[in-house]
Amino acid sequence: MRPGRGLPSPVYPITDPARAGAASHAALVGELIAGGARWLQVRDKVRPAAELLPDYARCCRIARRRARVLVNDRADLALAAGAAGVHLGEEDLPAEAARRVLGRRAMIGVSTHSPEAAESAARLPVDYVALGPIFPSPAKPGAHTPLGLEGLRRARARVAAPLVVIGGIGPTTLAEVLRAGADAAALISEVWGAPEGAGARLRSLLATARRVLGERLLPGRHLYLVGFMGAGKSTLGPLVATAMGRPFIDLDLEVEHRAGCTIADLFARRGESFFRTLERQTLGEVSRGREAVISLGGGALGAAPSRALVARSGVSVWLDAPFSLLRRRCQAPGAPGRPLLQDAAAFARLYRSRRRMYAAADLRLAAGALEPPALAGRLLARLRRLR
Ligand code: S3P
Repeated sequence: MRPGRGLPSPVYPITDPARAGAASHAALVGELIAGGARWLQVRDKVRPAAELLPDYARCCRIARRRARVLVNDRADLALAAGAAGVHLGEEDLPAEAARRVLGRRAMIGVSTHSPEAAESAARLPVDYVALGPIFPSPAKPGAHTPLGLEGLRRARARVAAPLVVIGGIGPTTLAEVLRAGADAAALISEVWGAPEGAGARLRSLLATARRVLGERLLPGRHLYLVGFMGAGKSTLGPLVATAMGRPFIDLDLEVEHRAGCTIADLFARRGESFFRTLERQTLGEVSRGREAVISLGGGALGAAPSRALVARSGVSVWLDAPFSLLRRRCQAPGAPGRPLLQDAAAFARLYRSRRRMYAAADLRLAAGALEPPALAGRLLARLRRLR
């Protein structure tokens, strides 16, 4: 396995012109890309190479920069067509030879049909290991015994490489295979047999996959969003929490709820140290609850016991936004009343004095340039790589 490269997407459609009632593979690529495909496989066990080459080359031109095209079985066709890689079966070129043909940058996957074979394949110079069939498949009836979810779990336990499953996977089983540890599912019949059209079907399969993969992130651990006032923790938090299928907790709101007044009032009436005690207690309580995305107030990590608790119970992400942006956001009309914002020089000093504290977070996310949905996508991608 070659380290450091993930899969482009959890859904990996495979062309099938006969099933789709199309004259060529190229006629199917646009629909897949419109449905959100980031990679796809062109597969044809019938037509001769001389006929397939111009068709595959067109697929690659259509997909250029939008999706990666992998050619089934034939490294020579992949090279000649300008494809991103090849998917090898048991009787095709060995992975090492295909790698020599296609070079370092190509994406190469291999088919396997048992957890043991998947484990051996993961030692080859490949980018993913495909395992199947998981369920009986109308596309390849009877070729191998279906492995079921149990077989998949056994393979997952042995293979750290990206694992693609194939065989009889549909909308409900997609969620099951991803929960059982697959990183992606290759789909043929499910895509081309859909009454609503391949693009629409693909889109809904992708939505399912993203939700399930989000649920799989950071099991048993909280995700803590940390950073200075105005970093965008409370905006980003709900987006990330939804994608991870877990609740979002804003520590400031929890404190206000317990205090029965706003933080500004709490500071005014009881002083900062009272607020800090309540903040620490509240953090203790919420961290004992079920796994969540928790945004922390800018000073919540000031207390050593809170830092230890956060390190013990989750993964922390520092939303690092430029100081000018933090100041602008905090001073914007309608921004929440922040008691520590009164004096501009003190605000800047506080920021400088805290950067070291934030930098101790597990991850740092540059939070200045991107809109919240894009930032959430970037964070989720980083979390996926944490495994
Ligand atoms: C504070 C930040 C605020 C809030 C309180 C104190 C701080 O939270 O907890 O006003 O010490 O930086 P936000 O960072 O969410 O604004």
